Amino acid sequence: MKNKTIWSNRFKNKMSLSFQKIGSSINIDKRLYEQDITASIVHTQMLMKQKIIKKEDGNKIINGLKKIKIQIEKGSFNFKEKFEDIHLNIEKALFQIAGPSAGYLHTARSRNDQVVTDFKLWIKEASKEILKDISFLMKNIIKKAEKNIDTVMPGFTHLKNAQPISFAHYLLSYYEMLKRDKKRFENNLELLDECPLGSAALSGTSYKIDRTYTAKKLGFKKPTDNSIDSVSDRDFAIDFLYASAVCAMHLSRLAEDFIIYNSDAFNLISFKDSMLSGSSIMPQKKNPDPAELIRGKVGINYGKLNAILTIMKGLPMSYFKDMQDDKELVFDGYDTLKDTLTMSTELINSVNAKKSNMLSMANQGYTTATDFADYLVKHKDLSFRESYAISAKLVDYAEKSKKLLSELNLAEIRKFHKDLDKSVLKVFDVKNSMNMKKSHGGTSVISVKSMIKKYKKEIK
Ligand code: ARG
Repeated sequence: MKNKTIWSNRFKNKMSLSFQKIGSSINIDKRLYEQDITASIVHTQMLMKQKIIKKEDGNKIINGLKKIKIQIEKGSFNFKEKFEDIHLNIEKALFQIAGPSAGYLHTARSRNDQVVTDFKLWIKEASKEILKDISFLMKNIIKKAEKNIDTVMPGFTHLKNAQPISFAHYLLSYYEMLKRDKKRFENNLELLDECPLGSAALSGTSYKIDRTYTAKKLGFKKPTDNSIDSVSDRDFAIDFLYASAVCAMHLSRLAEDFIIYNSDAFNLISFKDSMLSGSSIMPQKKNPDPAELIRGKVGINYGKLNAILTIMKGLPMSYFKDMQDDKELVFDGYDTLKDTLTMSTELINSVNAKKSNMLSMANQGYTTATDFADYLVKHKDLSFRESYAISAKLVDYAEKSKKLLSELNLAEIRKFHKDLDKSVLKVFDVKNSMNMKKSHGGTSVISVKSMIKKYKKEIK
Protein backbone atom coordinates (compact mmCIF):
# COMPACT_ATOMS: atom_id res chain seq x y z
CA MET A 1 0.00 0.00 0.00
CA LYS A 2 2.81 2.34 1.03
CA ASN A 3 4.18 2.69 -2.47
CA LYS A 4 0.92 2.53 -4.37
CA THR A 5 -0.97 5.42 -5.84
CA ILE A 6 -4.36 6.27 -4.31
CA TRP A 7 -6.25 4.95 -7.35
CA SER A 8 -4.06 1.89 -8.07
CA ASN A 9 -6.89 -0.66 -7.48
CA ARG A 10 -8.67 0.04 -10.74
CA PHE A 11 -5.54 0.45 -12.89
CA LYS A 12 -4.15 -2.62 -14.63
CA ASN A 13 -0.68 -1.36 -15.42
CA LYS A 14 1.78 1.07 -13.94
CA MET A 15 1.89 4.70 -14.99
CA SER A 16 4.26 5.27 -17.91
CA LEU A 17 7.48 6.90 -16.77
CA SER A 18 7.21 9.71 -19.26
CA PHE A 19 3.66 10.41 -18.10
CA GLN A 20 4.93 10.38 -14.52
CA LYS A 21 7.59 12.91 -15.46
CA ILE A 22 5.27 15.34 -17.21
CA GLY A 23 2.35 14.65 -14.87
CA SER A 24 4.17 15.18 -11.61
CA SER A 25 4.25 18.71 -10.25
CA ILE A 26 5.75 17.98 -6.86
CA ASN A 27 9.02 19.76 -7.59
CA ILE A 28 7.04 22.92 -8.24
CA ASP A 29 4.02 22.73 -5.96
CA LYS A 30 5.92 21.66 -2.84
CA ARG A 31 6.08 25.40 -2.30
CA LEU A 32 2.40 25.11 -1.32
CA TYR A 33 3.11 22.76 1.59
CA GLU A 34 2.32 25.28 4.31
CA GLN A 35 -0.96 26.39 2.75
CA ASP A 36 -1.91 22.77 2.07
CA ILE A 37 -1.33 21.73 5.67
CA THR A 38 -3.11 24.78 7.07
CA ALA A 39 -6.15 24.21 4.83
CA SER A 40 -6.20 20.49 5.70
CA ILE A 41 -6.11 21.22 9.43
CA VAL A 42 -8.99 23.70 9.14
CA HIS A 43 -10.94 21.26 6.96
CA THR A 44 -10.42 18.54 9.58
CA GLN A 45 -11.51 20.84 12.40
CA MET A 46 -14.68 21.59 10.44
CA LEU A 47 -15.36 17.89 9.82
CA MET A 48 -14.99 17.26 13.58
CA LYS A 49 -17.20 20.20 14.52
CA GLN A 50 -19.89 19.00 12.11
CA LYS A 51 -19.55 15.48 13.50
CA ILE A 52 -18.76 14.17 10.03
CA ILE A 53 -15.64 12.45 11.37
CA LYS A 54 -14.78 11.22 14.87
CA LYS A 55 -12.72 13.38 17.24
CA GLU A 56 -10.07 10.63 17.67
CA ASP A 57 -9.52 10.40 13.93
CA GLY A 58 -9.52 14.16 13.51
CA ASN A 59 -6.96 14.66 16.25
CA LYS A 60 -4.68 12.00 14.79
CA ILE A 61 -4.93 13.69 11.40
CA ILE A 62 -4.14 17.15 12.81
CA ASN A 63 -1.16 15.92 14.86
CA GLY A 64 0.13 14.00 11.85
CA LEU A 65 -0.14 17.04 9.60
CA LYS A 66 1.79 19.13 12.14
CA LYS A 67 4.53 16.49 12.21
CA ILE A 68 4.70 16.49 8.42
CA LYS A 69 5.10 20.26 8.42
CA ILE A 70 8.06 19.95 10.79
CA GLN A 71 9.61 17.22 8.61
CA ILE A 72 9.28 19.38 5.51
CA GLU A 73 10.80 22.38 7.25
CA LYS A 74 13.69 20.28 8.60
CA GLY A 75 14.30 18.91 5.10
CA SER A 76 13.69 15.31 6.15
CA PHE A 77 10.45 14.81 4.19
CA ASN A 78 10.83 12.53 1.19
CA PHE A 79 8.95 14.09 -1.74
CA LYS A 80 8.03 11.46 -4.30
CA GLU A 81 7.45 12.13 -7.99
CA LYS A 82 5.25 9.06 -8.07
CA PHE A 83 2.71 10.73 -5.79
CA GLU A 84 2.36 13.52 -8.27
CA ASP A 85 1.75 16.62 -6.23
CA ILE A 86 1.97 18.18 -2.79
CA HIS A 87 -1.58 17.13 -1.90
CA LEU A 88 -1.07 13.41 -2.51
CA ASN A 89 2.46 13.44 -1.10
CA ILE A 90 1.15 14.80 2.18
CA GLU A 91 -1.89 12.51 2.28
CA LYS A 92 0.31 9.48 1.58
CA ALA A 93 2.76 10.45 4.30
CA LEU A 94 -0.11 10.97 6.73
CA PHE A 95 -1.00 7.28 6.50
CA GLN A 96 2.51 6.48 7.74
CA ILE A 97 2.02 8.67 10.80
CA ALA A 98 -1.72 8.55 11.58
CA GLY A 99 -2.54 5.07 10.27
CA PRO A 100 -6.08 4.38 8.96
CA SER A 101 -7.39 7.64 10.52
CA ALA A 102 -5.64 9.42 7.65
CA GLY A 103 -8.31 7.95 5.41
CA TYR A 104 -10.88 10.40 6.83
CA LEU A 105 -9.05 13.57 5.78
CA HIS A 106 -10.25 13.63 2.21
CA THR A 107 -13.94 13.48 3.21
CA ALA A 108 -16.05 16.16 1.51
CA ARG A 109 -13.22 17.61 -0.55
CA SER A 110 -11.33 16.98 -3.77
CA ARG A 111 -7.91 17.97 -4.97
CA ASN A 112 -9.76 20.37 -7.25
CA ASP A 113 -11.00 22.62 -4.45
CA GLN A 114 -7.91 21.82 -2.38
CA VAL A 115 -5.41 23.09 -4.95
CA VAL A 116 -7.26 26.29 -5.71
CA THR A 117 -7.63 27.05 -1.99
CA ASP A 118 -3.91 26.50 -1.38
CA PHE A 119 -3.02 28.57 -4.42
CA LYS A 120 -5.23 31.49 -3.38
CA LEU A 121 -3.68 31.42 0.09
CA TRP A 122 -0.20 31.43 -1.45
CA ILE A 123 -0.96 34.31 -3.78
CA LYS A 124 -2.36 36.31 -0.85
CA GLU A 125 0.95 35.97 0.99
CA ALA A 126 3.00 36.62 -2.12
CA SER A 127 1.01 39.75 -2.93
CA LYS A 128 1.63 41.08 0.55
CA GLU A 129 5.38 40.50 0.10
CA ILE A 130 5.35 42.30 -3.25
CA LEU A 131 3.36 45.18 -1.74
CA LYS A 132 6.01 45.54 0.98
CA ASP A 133 8.80 45.58 -1.61
CA ILE A 134 7.03 48.15 -3.77
CA SER A 135 6.47 50.40 -0.74
CA PHE A 136 10.14 50.11 0.18
CA LEU A 137 11.16 51.13 -3.32
CA MET A 138 8.73 54.06 -3.19
CA LYS A 139 10.24 55.24 0.09
CA ASN A 140 13.71 55.13 -1.43
CA ILE A 141 12.50 57.09 -4.44
CA ILE A 142 11.22 59.79 -2.08
CA LYS A 143 14.60 59.85 -0.31
CA LYS A 144 16.49 60.31 -3.57
CA ALA A 145 13.97 62.92 -4.74
CA GLU A 146 14.33 64.94 -1.53
CA LYS A 147 18.03 65.39 -2.29
CA ASN A 148 17.30 66.61 -5.81
CA ILE A 149 14.33 68.96 -5.56
CA ASP A 150 16.20 71.84 -7.20
CA THR A 151 18.40 69.72 -9.48
CA VAL A 152 17.48 70.93 -12.97
CA MET A 153 17.60 68.49 -15.84
CA PRO A 154 16.17 68.49 -19.33
CA GLY A 155 12.80 66.78 -19.53
CA PHE A 156 12.47 64.82 -22.77
CA THR A 157 9.70 64.04 -25.19
CA HIS A 158 10.68 61.86 -28.15
CA LEU A 159 14.08 61.78 -26.39
CA LYS A 160 14.60 65.36 -27.62
CA ASN A 161 15.23 68.07 -25.04
CA ALA A 162 11.80 69.46 -24.24
CA GLN A 163 11.54 71.58 -21.09
CA PRO A 164 13.57 71.99 -17.90
CA ILE A 165 12.34 69.81 -15.02
CA SER A 166 13.41 68.90 -11.52
CA PHE A 167 15.24 65.57 -11.23
CA ALA A 168 13.08 64.95 -8.14
CA HIS A 169 9.94 65.47 -10.19
CA TYR A 170 11.21 63.00 -12.76
CA LEU A 171 11.96 60.39 -10.05
CA LEU A 172 8.57 60.89 -8.44
CA SER A 173 6.81 60.06 -11.68
CA TYR A 174 7.88 56.49 -10.87
CA TYR A 175 6.40 56.84 -7.39
CA GLU A 176 3.03 57.40 -9.04
CA MET A 177 3.42 54.37 -11.32
CA LEU A 178 4.34 52.16 -8.38
CA LYS A 179 1.40 53.48 -6.40
CA ARG A 180 -0.91 52.26 -9.17
CA ASP A 181 0.96 48.94 -9.22
CA LYS A 182 0.16 48.48 -5.55
CA LYS A 183 -3.47 49.16 -6.24
CA ARG A 184 -3.51 46.42 -8.89
CA PHE A 185 -2.21 43.86 -6.39
CA GLU A 186 -4.65 45.15 -3.76
CA ASN A 187 -7.58 44.90 -6.14
CA ASN A 188 -6.69 41.29 -6.78
CA LEU A 189 -6.47 40.62 -3.04
CA GLU A 190 -10.00 41.91 -2.71
CA LEU A 191 -11.36 39.93 -5.66
CA LEU A 192 -9.81 36.61 -4.64
CA ASP A 193 -11.02 36.84 -1.08
CA GLU A 194 -13.56 34.02 -1.40
CA CYS A 195 -12.77 30.50 -0.23
CA PRO A 196 -13.30 27.63 -2.72
CA LEU A 197 -12.83 24.86 -0.13
CA GLY A 198 -15.90 22.62 0.05
CA SER A 199 -16.68 22.89 -3.65
CA ALA A 200 -15.16 19.39 -3.85
CA ALA A 201 -14.68 17.99 -7.37
CA LEU A 202 -17.08 20.49 -9.02
CA SER A 203 -20.60 20.02 -7.69
CA GLY A 204 -20.29 20.63 -3.96
CA THR A 205 -20.91 17.85 -1.43
CA SER A 206 -23.75 16.01 0.27
CA TYR A 207 -22.03 16.17 3.69
CA LYS A 208 -23.29 18.85 6.06
CA ILE A 209 -20.12 20.93 5.90
CA ASP A 210 -19.73 24.48 7.23
CA ARG A 211 -18.10 26.49 4.48
CA THR A 212 -18.36 29.79 6.30
CA TYR A 213 -16.37 28.31 9.19
CA THR A 214 -13.52 27.13 6.92
CA ALA A 215 -13.56 30.36 4.90
CA LYS A 216 -13.28 32.52 8.03
CA LYS A 217 -10.65 30.33 9.68
CA LEU A 218 -8.50 30.50 6.56
CA GLY A 219 -8.79 34.27 6.50
CA PHE A 220 -11.23 34.65 3.58
CA LYS A 221 -14.18 37.02 3.65
CA LYS A 222 -16.69 34.35 2.62
CA PRO A 223 -17.05 31.05 0.75
CA THR A 224 -17.40 31.13 -3.06
CA ASP A 225 -20.96 30.93 -4.39
CA ASN A 226 -20.64 28.54 -7.33
CA SER A 227 -18.82 25.22 -6.96
CA ILE A 228 -18.19 24.86 -10.72
CA ASP A 229 -16.63 28.29 -11.05
CA SER A 230 -14.66 27.69 -7.84
CA VAL A 231 -12.64 24.78 -9.20
CA SER A 232 -12.11 26.24 -12.65
CA ASP A 233 -11.33 29.86 -11.79
CA ARG A 234 -7.75 30.99 -12.22
CA ASP A 235 -8.51 34.71 -12.65
CA PHE A 236 -6.66 35.49 -9.44
CA ALA A 237 -3.47 33.96 -10.85
CA ILE A 238 -3.90 35.85 -14.11
CA ASP A 239 -4.51 39.11 -12.25
CA PHE A 240 -1.43 38.48 -10.13
CA LEU A 241 0.67 37.90 -13.26
CA TYR A 242 -0.84 40.93 -14.98
CA ALA A 243 -0.11 43.16 -11.98
CA SER A 244 3.43 41.73 -11.94
CA ALA A 245 3.88 42.34 -15.66
CA VAL A 246 2.80 45.97 -15.44
CA CYS A 247 5.02 46.60 -12.43
CA ALA A 248 7.97 44.96 -14.18
CA MET A 249 7.25 47.11 -17.25
CA HIS A 250 7.48 50.24 -15.10
CA LEU A 251 10.79 49.09 -13.65
CA SER A 252 12.03 48.32 -17.15
CA ARG A 253 11.27 51.90 -18.19
CA LEU A 254 13.09 53.27 -15.16
CA ALA A 255 16.09 51.08 -15.94
CA GLU A 256 16.11 52.19 -19.57
CA ASP A 257 16.02 55.87 -18.54
CA PHE A 258 18.97 55.28 -16.26
CA ILE A 259 20.90 53.41 -18.95
CA ILE A 260 20.41 56.35 -21.30
CA TYR A 261 21.26 58.98 -18.68
CA ASN A 262 24.35 56.99 -17.69
CA SER A 263 25.55 56.62 -21.29
CA ASP A 264 28.67 58.55 -22.35
CA ALA A 265 26.54 60.55 -24.77
CA PHE A 266 24.13 61.82 -22.09
CA ASN A 267 26.38 61.63 -19.02
CA LEU A 268 23.68 62.90 -16.64
CA ILE A 269 24.01 60.33 -13.86
CA SER A 270 26.50 57.84 -12.50
CA PHE A 271 26.11 54.64 -10.48
CA LYS A 272 28.19 53.35 -7.61
CA ASP A 273 30.75 50.75 -8.72
CA SER A 274 28.70 48.12 -6.87
CA MET A 275 26.05 48.54 -9.59
CA LEU A 276 28.50 48.18 -12.50
CA SER A 277 30.50 45.45 -14.12
CA GLY A 278 33.62 45.45 -16.24
CA SER A 279 34.51 44.19 -19.69
CA SER A 280 36.67 41.15 -20.34
CA ILE A 281 38.52 42.95 -23.13
CA MET A 282 38.05 46.72 -22.78
CA PRO A 283 39.83 47.90 -19.65
CA GLN A 284 38.07 51.27 -19.56
CA LYS A 285 34.53 49.91 -19.41
CA LYS A 286 32.04 50.19 -16.56
CA ASN A 287 28.76 48.72 -17.73
CA PRO A 288 25.34 49.16 -16.06
CA ASP A 289 24.47 45.44 -16.06
CA PRO A 290 21.95 45.53 -13.18
CA ALA A 291 19.93 48.22 -14.98
CA GLU A 292 20.04 46.17 -18.17
CA LEU A 293 18.84 43.08 -16.30
CA ILE A 294 15.94 45.02 -14.80
CA ARG A 295 15.12 46.30 -18.29
CA GLY A 296 15.08 42.74 -19.64
CA LYS A 297 13.41 40.80 -16.81
CA VAL A 298 9.99 42.11 -17.82
CA GLY A 299 10.22 39.67 -20.73
CA ILE A 300 9.88 36.84 -18.22
CA ASN A 301 6.87 38.49 -16.56
CA TYR A 302 5.15 39.08 -19.90
CA GLY A 303 5.92 35.50 -20.90
CA LYS A 304 4.31 34.00 -17.79
CA LEU A 305 1.20 36.15 -18.25
CA ASN A 306 0.94 35.19 -21.90
CA ALA A 307 1.38 31.51 -21.02
CA ILE A 308 -1.39 31.42 -18.42
CA LEU A 309 -3.79 33.34 -20.68
CA THR A 310 -3.09 30.83 -23.42
CA ILE A 311 -3.53 27.80 -21.15
CA MET A 312 -6.90 29.10 -19.93
CA LYS A 313 -8.22 30.04 -23.36
CA GLY A 314 -11.09 27.80 -24.48
CA LEU A 315 -10.88 25.42 -21.48
CA PRO A 316 -14.34 23.90 -21.04
CA MET A 317 -15.81 23.75 -17.54
CA SER A 318 -14.48 22.82 -15.10
CA TYR A 319 -11.15 21.42 -13.85
CA PHE A 320 -8.56 20.15 -16.31
CA LYS A 321 -4.98 19.07 -15.80
CA ASP A 322 -3.91 21.87 -18.17
CA MET A 323 -4.24 24.16 -15.18
CA GLN A 324 -1.55 22.35 -13.20
CA ASP A 325 1.11 24.48 -14.89
CA ASP A 326 -0.40 27.68 -13.46
CA LYS A 327 1.72 27.40 -10.34
CA GLU A 328 5.09 27.28 -12.05
CA LEU A 329 4.14 30.42 -13.97
CA VAL A 330 3.04 32.31 -10.88
CA PHE A 331 6.05 31.21 -8.82
CA ASP A 332 8.46 32.25 -11.58
CA GLY A 333 6.66 35.55 -12.10
CA TYR A 334 6.80 36.23 -8.38
CA ASP A 335 10.48 35.31 -7.98
CA THR A 336 11.46 37.42 -10.97
CA LEU A 337 9.52 40.48 -9.87
CA LYS A 338 10.80 40.20 -6.31
CA ASP A 339 14.43 40.17 -7.47
CA THR A 340 13.75 43.02 -9.88
CA LEU A 341 12.17 45.14 -7.14
CA THR A 342 15.10 44.57 -4.79
CA MET A 343 17.57 45.40 -7.54
CA SER A 344 15.62 48.53 -8.50
CA THR A 345 15.75 49.82 -4.92
CA GLU A 346 19.53 49.33 -4.82
CA LEU A 347 19.86 50.99 -8.19
CA ILE A 348 17.88 54.08 -7.13
CA ASN A 349 20.03 54.37 -4.01
CA SER A 350 23.24 54.16 -6.00
CA VAL A 351 22.33 56.89 -8.50
CA ASN A 352 24.27 60.11 -8.37
CA ALA A 353 22.97 63.12 -10.33
CA LYS A 354 25.71 64.93 -12.26
CA LYS A 355 24.16 68.28 -11.51
CA SER A 356 26.33 70.54 -13.66
CA ASN A 357 25.93 68.27 -16.70
CA MET A 358 22.20 68.18 -16.12
CA LEU A 359 22.08 71.95 -15.91
CA SER A 360 24.13 72.47 -19.04
CA MET A 361 22.06 69.93 -20.99
CA ALA A 362 18.87 71.61 -19.77
CA ASN A 363 20.18 74.74 -21.49
CA GLN A 364 20.72 72.96 -24.79
CA GLY A 365 17.95 72.48 -27.32
CA TYR A 366 16.08 75.77 -26.73
CA THR A 367 14.14 74.28 -23.84
CA THR A 368 12.75 77.69 -22.77
CA ALA A 369 11.13 78.51 -26.11
CA THR A 370 7.69 77.73 -24.63
CA ASP A 371 8.44 80.03 -21.68
CA PHE A 372 9.14 82.88 -24.10
CA ALA A 373 5.83 82.26 -25.88
CA ASP A 374 4.02 82.15 -22.52
CA TYR A 375 5.69 85.46 -21.55
CA LEU A 376 4.37 87.16 -24.70
CA VAL A 377 0.86 85.80 -24.03
CA LYS A 378 0.89 87.07 -20.46
CA HIS A 379 2.53 90.49 -21.04
CA LYS A 380 1.91 91.48 -24.66
CA ASP A 381 -1.73 90.63 -25.22
CA LEU A 382 -1.03 88.08 -27.95
CA SER A 383 -2.71 84.74 -28.53
CA PHE A 384 -0.65 81.64 -27.83
CA ARG A 385 -0.43 80.82 -31.53
CA GLU A 386 0.91 84.32 -32.37
CA SER A 387 3.45 84.06 -29.56
CA TYR A 388 4.40 80.53 -30.61
CA ALA A 389 5.26 81.83 -34.10
CA ILE A 390 7.44 84.64 -32.71
CA SER A 391 9.24 82.22 -30.39
CA ALA A 392 9.85 79.80 -33.27
CA LYS A 393 11.54 82.61 -35.22
CA LEU A 394 13.70 83.43 -32.23
CA VAL A 395 14.76 79.77 -31.99
CA ASP A 396 15.62 79.81 -35.69
CA TYR A 397 17.76 82.88 -35.17
CA ALA A 398 19.54 81.37 -32.16
CA GLU A 399 20.21 78.19 -34.10
CA LYS A 400 21.72 80.10 -37.02
CA SER A 401 23.87 82.27 -34.74
CA LYS A 402 24.94 79.17 -32.80
CA LYS A 403 23.81 80.61 -29.47
CA LEU A 404 21.77 79.30 -26.56
CA LEU A 405 18.54 81.20 -25.93
CA SER A 406 20.07 82.41 -22.66
CA GLU A 407 23.02 83.89 -24.57
CA LEU A 408 20.88 86.26 -26.67
CA ASN A 409 20.91 89.95 -25.67
CA LEU A 410 17.90 92.24 -25.45
CA ALA A 411 18.64 93.91 -28.82
CA GLU A 412 18.65 90.54 -30.57
CA ILE A 413 15.38 89.48 -28.93
CA ARG A 414 13.72 92.81 -29.78
CA LYS A 415 14.15 92.00 -33.48
CA PHE A 416 11.25 89.59 -33.01
CA HIS A 417 9.03 91.78 -30.85
CA LYS A 418 9.86 95.47 -30.51
CA ASP A 419 8.13 96.23 -27.28
CA LEU A 420 10.26 94.23 -24.81
CA ASP A 421 12.28 95.23 -21.74
CA LYS A 422 15.01 93.38 -19.91
CA SER A 423 12.50 91.55 -17.69
CA VAL A 424 12.11 89.15 -20.60
CA LEU A 425 15.65 87.81 -20.16
CA LYS A 426 14.60 85.89 -17.07
CA VAL A 427 12.41 83.52 -19.11
CA PHE A 428 15.50 81.96 -20.66
CA ASP A 429 16.83 80.91 -17.26
CA VAL A 430 16.13 77.19 -16.94
CA LYS A 431 15.74 77.26 -13.16
CA ASN A 432 13.20 80.05 -13.50
CA SER A 433 11.41 78.06 -16.17
CA MET A 434 11.19 75.07 -13.84
CA ASN A 435 9.92 77.14 -10.93
CA MET A 436 7.24 78.83 -13.00
CA LYS A 437 5.49 75.47 -13.34
CA LYS A 438 3.47 75.85 -10.18
CA SER A 439 0.33 74.15 -11.48
CA HIS A 440 -0.86 71.15 -9.44
CA GLY A 441 1.47 68.27 -10.24
CA GLY A 442 3.98 70.58 -11.95
CA THR A 443 7.76 70.60 -11.61
CA SER A 444 8.37 73.78 -9.57
CA VAL A 445 10.25 73.39 -6.29
CA ILE A 446 7.11 74.44 -4.43
CA SER A 447 4.91 71.88 -6.16
CA VAL A 448 7.45 69.09 -5.77
CA LYS A 449 7.92 69.88 -2.07
CA SER A 450 4.19 69.73 -1.46
CA MET A 451 3.94 66.38 -3.30
CA ILE A 452 6.81 64.95 -1.26
CA LYS A 453 4.99 66.01 1.90
CA LYS A 454 1.84 64.25 0.73
CA TYR A 455 3.74 61.11 -0.33
CA LYS A 456 5.56 60.86 2.99
CA LYS A 457 2.27 60.94 4.84
CA GLU A 458 0.52 58.35 2.68
CA ILE A 459 3.37 55.82 2.31
CA LYS A 460 3.72 54.94 6.04
N1 ARG B 1 -1.76 18.95 -8.99
C1 ARG B 1 -3.07 19.28 -9.45
C2 ARG B 1 -3.11 20.69 -10.01
O1 ARG B 1 -2.30 21.45 -9.67
C3 ARG B 1 -4.07 19.18 -8.36
C4 ARG B 1 -5.46 18.98 -8.81
C5 ARG B 1 -5.60 17.66 -9.44
N2 ARG B 1 -6.94 17.33 -9.72
C6 ARG B 1 -7.24 16.33 -10.57
N3 ARG B 1 -8.47 16.12 -10.79
N4 ARG B 1 -6.31 15.68 -11.21
O2 ARG B 1 -3.94 21.06 -10.80
